[in-house]
Amino acid sequence: MSLKACIYDLDGVITDTAKYHYESWKWVSDQLEYNLTEKQNQKLKGVGRKESLDKILKWSGARISEAKKQNLLTQKNKMYLKYIDTMTPEEIFPGFNEFNKKTKEEGIKVAIGSSSRNAIRIIDKLDLVLDFHAIVDGGMTPNSKPEPDIFLLAAEKLSIDPSECLVIEDSQAGLTAAKKAGMKSILYGEDKGLKGASLQIDNWLQASLEKFKNLY
Ligand code: BG6
Ligand code: MG
Repeated sequence: MSLKACIYDLDGVITDTAKYHYESWKWVSDQLEYNLTEKQNQKLKGVGRKESLDKILKWSGARISEAKKQNLLTQKNKMYLKYIDTMTPEEIFPGFNEFNKKTKEEGIKVAIGSSSRNAIRIIDKLDLVLDFHAIVDGGMTPNSKPEPDIFLLAAEKLSIDPSECLVIEDSQAGLTAAKKAGMKSILYGEDKGLKGASLQIDNWLQASLEKFKNLY
């Protein structure tokens, strides 16, 4: 067995969109007269849009109609897209492009596996559309992370067995999804006690492809 594919999460692994999600969810929470904390926002990482609103509703104890829910989801996304549309390739985390290039040069396939339905729009803003062999977003599978569907579809598109795919993730939902898919994973970013990863890296400048390959 050897490392044949890297499947990157997008939000929080290639660029920082969490701050834009947070601003938008804070607005939603204000509408519910609820104060969303940064710590709670951490728990929304990797979780789909609808499922995130369900969590906020649970925390706030607010009970609202299905129509109001739909309306809040639409408003939230509108606000979020206003931030996204200002993004430029300068917001790609330092060292990612170099790592991705080296990985491809070694014959390892690369894909995106994101819960976001806006993934392609973000990748386009970052000018990365042509840099992956496959892109799977939150609109392409019935279940979002922590279910394995997104990563399994990425492996299928790459024609690589899941056991030879490595996931790079910043969220618990994503690490759990990788495990359920039968894939090893790397935790990207600060170690906040998330579980399931084989290795942790602080940033791309620290990433060693050799170390990743040695996991297989
Ligand atoms: C994930 C983010 O990548 O995508 C979550 O970490 C977000 O915070 C989810 O809720 C869905 O994103 P979108 O863009 O479809 O609202
Ligand atoms: Mg993420």
